[in-house]
Amino acid sequence: MKTTALAVLSLLALPALLAAQGRVEPRWESIDRRPTPSWFEDAKLGIFIHWGVYAVPSFAPRTEVSTYARYAEWYWKRLLTPDMEGHPQFEAFHDRVYGPDAKYQDFAARFKAELYDPAQWADLFARAGARYVVLTSKHHDGFCLWPSAESWNWNAMDVGPHRDVAGDLVKAVRAKGLKMGFYYSLYEWFNPLYLEDVGRYVDTHMLPQMKDLVTRYEPDVVWTDGEWDHPSSTWKAEELLAWLFNDSKVGQTVAVNDRWGKETRAKHGGYYTTEYGLVHDKDASAEVIPHPWEECRGIGHSFGYNRAETVADYASPQKLVALLVDTVSRGGNLLLDIGPAADGRIPVIMEERLLQLGEFLGTSGEAIYGTRRWRTTSEGESVRYTAKGDAVYAIVLGWPGRNLTLKAPKAGGATKVSLLGTTAPVRFTKSAAGLRIEMPEAAPVGSAAYAFKLTGVK
Ligand code: GLC
Repeated sequence: MKTTALAVLSLLALPALLAAQGRVEPRWESIDRRPTPSWFEDAKLGIFIHWGVYAVPSFAPRTEVSTYARYAEWYWKRLLTPDMEGHPQFEAFHDRVYGPDAKYQDFAARFKAELYDPAQWADLFARAGARYVVLTSKHHDGFCLWPSAESWNWNAMDVGPHRDVAGDLVKAVRAKGLKMGFYYSLYEWFNPLYLEDVGRYVDTHMLPQMKDLVTRYEPDVVWTDGEWDHPSSTWKAEELLAWLFNDSKVGQTVAVNDRWGKETRAKHGGYYTTEYGLVHDKDASAEVIPHPWEECRGIGHSFGYNRAETVADYASPQKLVALLVDTVSRGGNLLLDIGPAADGRIPVIMEERLLQLGEFLGTSGEAIYGTRRWRTTSEGESVRYTAKGDAVYAIVLGWPGRNLTLKAPKAGGATKVSLLGTTAPVRFTKSAAGLRIEMPEAAPVGSAAYAFKLTGVK
């Protein structure tokens, strides 16, 4: 009798015991309590990289299709799925350029990455002002950018580049002092094992493959995707996350997202993800999300490189700065995507846009890195607020004219105002309308944004 009571008591005490040891239990209630590491919330800007076999055809329709059908990384799926949006355009392109008998798998040998220079990539990301990088280790086509034993002869070591594309980038990115993470697709469109027996796929393919990725490269971010066909229980996501947090080498530092099963978006896991402002099909582009979150999108309309896109499809530098500032003011991070070409070059327009973003952060990074949401996130079209310590930052998008008035900050006797990037004194007056600021002569007219640092305001 006594032993059973003891057994029950210790079972009841187990959660508290595990929590006391900082261990996470393999169930959402415990996993969701784990805070997202603060390095992630301080970082604000990451670079997403969609690279793989789909960079060979690097095509998607530009017009007459919705957001998701413009993703070039979905080439194989939309080519082979007649009832999917965009199928006719993908098929017409494929048959015209490669011939109806050409197979997607044949592209792997043409994915040579002959100009791939991870050090040049990492240098660019650092100059863009990014603090972390997330590379597609394996996308929905199942092709791995590292020598994964589970993807024999369908990985970058065995076919195409014949090198550990992922491992080489990890080294280069970390040498630049940036954090390095991986995107990983849970499902694989045409993997016969996945299509026949998802349980065996998870146990014998997906879980060992993910654990290999984590153990080999010790990523700072695990960014899963391709979760929507099954609930998290089928993917064994809670067990995997408990292993990641309790037993892997990155348990204390790794940041994870919310794509772990068809029921988990914006509910379970780590930080929440929006994509082109969407959560699935719901528009979240203006929401203030009371939880760590991250917006991801391409500079154009695709994650994978789309050679069919023109400059009209690429966001202007002003648009990108406004996107970053708006996202950060609402408490989010921006994971801005690039799609390198199959030969390993980063398309010059993407390179230029990253450098232009870096220019803004070079001047006004103090108003971005390490900040958190302020009580007021925006004022009108062009003013966004962030806060850090006793400072509030008012970031004005575009040239405001010779002077501007801020309504939200309540000024007092100790109020100080300065413009980041200049040492010129900033004249201001307090009025019933708010804080009236005169743009210093030294302020360059053409900047994408102007960040004012306000102290002594409420
Ligand atoms: C979607 C797309 C996928 C892309 C991902 C990035 O899930 O299916 O292609 O990689 O979003 O957010």
